[in-house]
Amino acid sequence: MLKARTLPTVLQDMRIPAVAAPLFIVSCPDLVIAQCKAGIIGSFPALNARDEPGGPVLLEIWLKKITEELDRHNQANPDRPAAPFAVNQIVHRSNDRLERDVEICAKWKVPVWITSMGARVEVNDAAHSCGGIALHDVINNTYAKKAVGKGADGLIAVAAGAGGHGGPQSPFALVREIREWFDGPLLLAGAVSTGEALLAARVLGADFGYVGSPFVATNEANADPVYKEMMVKAAAEDVLTSSLFTGHPANYLKGSLTRVGLDPDNLPPDWDVSVMPDDGPLPKAWREIWGAGQGIGAIKSVGPAAAVVDRLEREYRDACERMREII
Ligand SMILES: Cc1cc2nc3c(=O)[nH]c(=O)nc-3n(C[C@H](O)[C@H](O)[C@H](O)COP(=O)(O)O)c2cc1C
Repeated sequence: MLKARTLPTVLQDMRIPAVAAPLFIVSCPDLVIAQCKAGIIGSFPALNARDEPGGPVLLEIWLKKITEELDRHNQANPDRPAAPFAVNQIVHRSNDRLERDVEICAKWKVPVWITSMGARVEVNDAAHSCGGIALHDVINNTYAKKAVGKGADGLIAVAAGAGGHGGPQSPFALVREIREWFDGPLLLAGAVSTGEALLAARVLGADFGYVGSPFVATNEANADPVYKEMMVKAAAEDVLTSSLFTGHPANYLKGSLTRVGLDPDNLPPDWDVSVMPDDGPLPKAWREIWGAGQGIGAIKSVGPAAAVVDRLEREYRDACERMREII
């Protein structure tokens, strides 16, 4: 029997040990609301809320919509309340909105803050100032120690095979090294696309699986229908790792490169930059070159986000049952 670790209140009583990962461009209020109503933490990158010049502050509008819709759901369904939601802040120096977005998130009392690409004391402090918790994503043990040193409450171990900026390390090695010294909330990312993988993540010592790619192929996702269908048809061997498009190694669908006239087997040498190019001759990462993790073989159709959570729960319960028979 897996013994439950004592988790912060906001992470307790989840339907299954899964958190929906933030997806650049793809995660929008409808997707987050669907994920939370289905009983798992839903999330979006703050940068997805892009203001039109002279228009209202979209991040405020999104936070209002998500908060009010989940409140309404909770009042109508006290026996089946929604899970809390999370906002992802890209803490990279290229993010010139960070300070403003942090203020807005503190004002709206965002319950879970996910920080990526750097760790900053002031962002963790802002999360705590409004009663939230901060989870920081890391690709190795050194970054994990730095993040906790800067006040992160929990860690997201991004292992090999994760969609977007995946890490190079095996989940077995990464979780083990972090668990040797860290007893707080730990999430594992990287091809965690099935209920079996959720159970495996817990066996390794993580508290939750961090599930990204499967939510691209959902009705609520803000993604091109061709991208969604490609996620259904593709499998692990159709995923390419390259640092060409952002300067950092990331996992993409080979089919999305072919679609814009690039040969995935004959790419130019990696773009040698330490900055994130936002314009240039290459097609844009995420908008034209589509992110995907190695777990996409588990995606069999495009449907509601709730159906992904139902499938994960079914598979998780079955996997637990099978383990009980084996052990
Ligand atoms: C299309 C796409 C966009 C992503 N955008 C972000 C992002 O904006 N911020 C972030 O922290 N992680 C981002 N990620 C990484 C995910 O949050 C998560 O770590 C990853 O999807 C987990 O691996 P999986 O796709 O194999 O489930 C993205 C991943 C994908 C597939």
